[in-house]
Amino acid sequence: MTDFRAIVIEQETESGRIVAHTAEVRRVTDAFLMAGDVTVAVEYSDLNFKDALAIGGRPGVARTTPLIPGIDLVGVVEESEDERWRPGDRVVLNGDGIGESHHGGLAERARVRGDALVRVPDVLSSEQAAAIGTAGFTAMLSVLALERNGLDPQAVADAGSSVLVTGAAGGVGSVAVALLAKLGYPVTASTGRPEEQAEYLTDLGASAIIDRAELSDPGKPLQRQRWAGVVDAVGSHTLANALAQTTYGGTVTACGLAQGSDLPATVMPFILRGVTLVGINSVEAPIALRETAWRRLATDLDTEALAAMTAFIPLAETIGAADELLAGRLHGRTVVDVRA
Ligand SMILES: NC(=O)c1ccc[n+]([C@@H]2O[C@H](COP(=O)([O-])OP(=O)(O)OC[C@H]3O[C@@H](n4cnc5c(N)ncnc54)[C@H](OP(=O)(O)O)[C@@H]3O)[C@@H](O)[C@H]2O)c1
Repeated sequence: MTDFRAIVIEQETESGRIVAHTAEVRRVTDAFLMAGDVTVAVEYSDLNFKDALAIGGRPGVARTTPLIPGIDLVGVVEESEDERWRPGDRVVLNGDGIGESHHGGLAERARVRGDALVRVPDVLSSEQAAAIGTAGFTAMLSVLALERNGLDPQAVADAGSSVLVTGAAGGVGSVAVALLAKLGYPVTASTGRPEEQAEYLTDLGASAIIDRAELSDPGKPLQRQRWAGVVDAVGSHTLANALAQTTYGGTVTACGLAQGSDLPATVMPFILRGVTLVGINSVEAPIALRETAWRRLATDLDTEALAAMTAFIPLAETIGAADELLAGRLHGRTVVDVRA
């Protein structure tokens, strides 16, 4: 039986509260893996906000114990009972419950559902696919939603408007800035670290930077119309203010809750300005949407921008890096080389 390294989380809960939690790198065997029809030799995983919450013992992500965290994996199929997948195929998996209710990508091996796997596009290396990860996949789902609602780069530029990206120096935000800029949109990046991250965000393609403090406090139901579209990863007052500042007919996507899961808003932007609010869920995205998003990521994400936003760490450094992410000291994307 193959044995391999994995990060393993164990926790005890009482009335839904986590009362004891450990996260450590451990050697486990194939017997530890859960049911699935495809076994993958994992090459890379990465660190998302959710992974940091799970590794850090925060509630809401790990739904079983013990659990291998990691909501993303990129690797090579070793064994498959699913006729679509053969040994040697290069695959990527984002979400679908891995790292939450099913063992995830922060291990050298994984057993998963063939139904949720996507072939890594030929033009992307495995490192690049992991650098994109759930954060980049979610940023692409957000851009696809803006496009579905008719947002057009030339029209946004001609109107002297822009697309606002919140949590811009984070993973979802960084990829969203790079994607939107490459597609030709003027992009305003909102960050809590304007002095530290302005050059980084401008290099990714942001045309303007604002301090997130402008958006994070309670605001009026309708405010000056500033954004033709919004990619929000922050929620709470930030999302409420973004809605109140969106121009007539504009679209706002909501994927995250870095500030909070509340939405202290009114219906005014919807009924007086025809604003659309679109929810983004990467975990349960159907396979056709997954494939479309990955096809578009292969063509519409500048690979130099992707390299500029990516840091690499070995498996053993992941637990420390999760603390750093939650403390707001990381930026962009962190790829985990699970074999290092
Ligand atoms: N719906 C989905 O399918 C889906 C998928 C992926 C992620 N998400 C969610 O999207 C969010 C971002 O994920 P991520 O992986 O990009 O995380 P991340 O890399 O940690 O980025 C989050 C960013 O949010 C900003 N932020 C942090 N705390 C804040 C606060 N109190 N107020 C305002 N802004 C704050 C920071 O950006 P600045 O330093 O620039 O201010 C931070 O870098 C998370 O809530 C995550 O759970 C959802």
